[in-house]
Amino acid sequence: MSNHSQLYTLGAFLLGIGLTVAYQQQLFRPGYDRRSRRRKIHQDISRLSKTDDIESLKKNLTDIVESLEREAGSIKEGIEGCIGNTPLIKIKSLSDATGCEILAKAEFLNGAGNSPKDRVALGIIQLAEERGLLVPHSGDTVYEGTVGSTGISLAAICRARGYKAHICMPDDMAIEKSDLLQKLGAEVERVRPAPIVDQNQFVNLARTRATEHTKNPDKPGRGLFADQFETEANWLAHFAGTGPEIYEQTGGSLNAFVSGAGTGGTISGVALYLKPKLPDIKIVLADPPGSGLFNRVKYGVMFDPKEREGTRRRHQVDTIIEGIGINRVTHNFEVGRELVDDAIRVTDDQALAMAKWLVEHDGIFVGSSSAVNCVAATKLAKQLGPGHRIVTLLCDSGARHLSKFWASTEPVGGSEDDVSLEEIINS
Ligand SMILES: Cc1ncc(COP(=O)(O)O)c(C=O)c1O
Repeated sequence: MSNHSQLYTLGAFLLGIGLTVAYQQQLFRPGYDRRSRRRKIHQDISRLSKTDDIESLKKNLTDIVESLEREAGSIKEGIEGCIGNTPLIKIKSLSDATGCEILAKAEFLNGAGNSPKDRVALGIIQLAEERGLLVPHSGDTVYEGTVGSTGISLAAICRARGYKAHICMPDDMAIEKSDLLQKLGAEVERVRPAPIVDQNQFVNLARTRATEHTKNPDKPGRGLFADQFETEANWLAHFAGTGPEIYEQTGGSLNAFVSGAGTGGTISGVALYLKPKLPDIKIVLADPPGSGLFNRVKYGVMFDPKEREGTRRRHQVDTIIEGIGINRVTHNFEVGRELVDDAIRVTDDQALAMAKWLVEHDGIFVGSSSAVNCVAATKLAKQLGPGHRIVTLLCDSGARHLSKFWASTEPVGGSEDDVSLEEIINS
């Protein structure tokens, strides 16, 4: 075979691989401009057939394969490219025990900060960039008040895009979260838990720090307050990402979606996307101890007047669950609240027992909010009866909760006298 035809055979082989990858990675999924991509591939191939020079043939082939791979999604554009499109996992033990299919979106596999907050952090930063509020490598700094996950996502994405991150968080959150933030190069302020009326409450402090930065002529760049509780970018990230992904992954066949709420962005965004498409779907809140959202959903009165003014002291130590549960009105919960059909309370003990159950039966090692979600999904399965399909979220890994939540669990071992699922949800 001549050099030329050898190269052609190689080219065809590589193109075949490229096209297979492209197909597997759903390059040609609905919405993708299939026709113009095909036209481009045909142009590239006909350009190849007119080239005699071996070096330019090689280069052309490499270019085509690389571009196919990139477009097929096998090469991601930086860490931001690893956000979204998380797998939907069937939790076998819970499904077998309830007769319902209990599916969980593996949000801990988001690639930057390893939680659903990656979607939100990226949305907030992209929106600020579009509005000219953030300029890379100018000293611009993103400030946020967070119990941890949003801060970790922001810190990672800020690094990737040339910004700094300054995170204010309550000092009773698991220490590994602030350690991780520091390793990501974020400035971390751990403050005493305080009610929202207190200017030193972690969210208020972050807002103040952002303003101080912008006003300070000695500091380079500006301060941007990310404002996850109130910004539209939060629920929109789930409306544009998590919701459509769940719909596609289930083929639109699901009976219920169960989620805890911290800011409320996840449950609202997903509900706003799914409800118009599936009017019969049940959107169910999973709520931990100390949170007012359960009553807000069930009876429309989350707050007594004292709470509305934010005067009630609710310290995070009310519960060992982190990331979900709140006692004040946030835009991100309110924007979808009317679509939330029901709420299920979950105790700390139920969450602890569920976390241990998931490791022992499924090898799934998750944090506290994920365990709450799974307890609520199981309770809902029992209410609905066999034959239903319920989707929930696995938000973050247990590795982020070793010193607090996981430090309180019973030893994992799978011994025979272990509690049953029935005992867990009825405890
Ligand atoms: C681990 C974890 N799970 C769940 C949530 C709740 O998500 P959302 O704020 O969208 O209600 C949070 C919020 O910070 C979180 O940190």
